[in-house]
Amino acid sequence: MKIALLGYGKMGQEIHKLAEKRGHEIILIIDNDEDWQERGSLLKEAEVAIEFTTPDSAVDNIMRCFENEIPVVVGTTGWIEDIDHIRKTCIDENKSLFFSPNFSIGVNLFFDLNRYLASLMAKWDNYEISIEETHHIHKLDAPSGTAIVLANDIIRKIERKEKWVKELQENPDEVGIKSYRSEDVPGTHKVRYESEMDAIVITHTAKTRRGFALGAIMAGEFIKGKKGFFEMKDLLNFQKSTV
Ligand SMILES: NC(=O)c1ccc[n+]([C@@H]2O[C@H](COP(=O)([O-])OP(=O)(O)OC[C@H]3O[C@@H](n4cnc5c(N)ncnc54)[C@H](O)[C@@H]3O)[C@@H](O)[C@H]2O)c1
Repeated sequence: MKIALLGYGKMGQEIHKLAEKRGHEIILIIDNDEDWQERGSLLKEAEVAIEFTTPDSAVDNIMRCFENEIPVVVGTTGWIEDIDHIRKTCIDENKSLFFSPNFSIGVNLFFDLNRYLASLMAKWDNYEISIEETHHIHKLDAPSGTAIVLANDIIRKIERKEKWVKELQENPDEVGIKSYRSEDVPGTHKVRYESEMDAIVITHTAKTRRGFALGAIMAGEFIKGKKGFFEMKDLLNFQKSTV
């Protein structure tokens, strides 16, 4: 598969190494606006683009892929306010986009576990619920896209919770998300249920960025030649059905 890498920071470089090991060819690397001016016309040669950039540039990059009819896998987080508009454009104009705030297969299993635990805990209102996320110091957005998914899934399952807030909750209808930044941590998420008697805590710890890179490349292999808006559940169901 011919891949255009949009963003060549920590994730772009990890994807480059792993994609070549899986037999793919990187035909274009774009890492800033000058690269777009110099080489952007080569985008149309790619079969798939993989986008890991910054919250400010993701939407423009997605639109460039749409204009060139190139399926795009997007891992950039921090642009959630535009997601409804982008999803609608993708579907209405018959384009192709795969978005996940977290491409790690383990995190997506953790999402299932979080939903299951929330459904068990729904009636036990003596437990207070909070989320902690820790990432490297260069991460631009907080809380992480993954922590927001965890919080929204809890809110959907637990009636007494209505919204998430940054830092600590002040009202009983909130889920507090505390963000920590520490050197080169790839990503750790904890969901905590705490009563006066005990605590139940589930944790996902990413050990390297390779897990995200693998998920993004698998998403590229999945989306090649397809039209529509896709998420991890589409890829995971496909994997199950092809085992
Ligand atoms: N979805 C996931 O699984 C997942 C996993 C890890 C990181 N992320 C997210 O992916 C994004 C990138 O993460 P990273 O750790 O590689 O960041 P990074 O800062 O190391 O790299 C971002 C790169 O994007 C480049 N860039 C900036 N503007 C650009 C533009 N207009 N076009 C092309 N490239 C441009 C920068 O020069 C930089 O090299 C972040 O939003 C991060 O939160 C998502």
